[in-house]
Amino acid sequence: MSHHKVRISVNGTAGEDEIESRQLLVHYLRETRGLTGTHVGCDTSNCGACTVMLDGKTVKSCTVLTVAADGGDVLTVEGLDEQGEMSPVQKGFQACHGLQCGYCTPGMVMAATGLLLEQENPDDAAIREGIEGNLCRCTGYDMIVDSVRWAAEHGGPGTAARAHANGRN
Ligand code: FES
Ligand code: FES
Repeated sequence: MSHHKVRISVNGTAGEDEIESRQLLVHYLRETRGLTGTHVGCDTSNCGACTVMLDGKTVKSCTVLTVAADGGDVLTVEGLDEQGEMSPVQKGFQACHGLQCGYCTPGMVMAATGLLLEQENPDDAAIREGIEGNLCRCTGYDMIVDSVRWAAEHGGPGTAARAHANGRN
């Protein structure tokens, strides 16, 4: 099995790791970097539970090879922390009950964060479009839309995501 050395920054922390060439980014994050906030919810790349930001764009990390992220910056749900406080999107999910079992939540939060980086004030249709790659079995989506709207009105994507998008972590 062939191996590669990769350098990937995750949530502002540089890492240099020897990985198998076929490893997927989601497994790199969970197993090599120990960041289990990013979930695996399917093997068909349609659930979005594995959504993270890579170099300023949301990606489903089960569809990206770790080697393809070599030299890149990744932001995961763990990296949204704002000095011990949740990001506006995380607070929105709490305030508007945007989660039940929580399995989809890290991916939903990252997808919503990516949307708010691109659109400051999306309407409900744009919010639904922004999270359409993310499946939730529990909430029926209405409360997720409310959560994202709340976040748009209370600080948007948050400071960590803005810094990530500007290439600062
Ligand atoms: S784990 Fe389901 S889309 Fe990645
Ligand atoms: S809260 Fe359970 S899958 Fe979304």
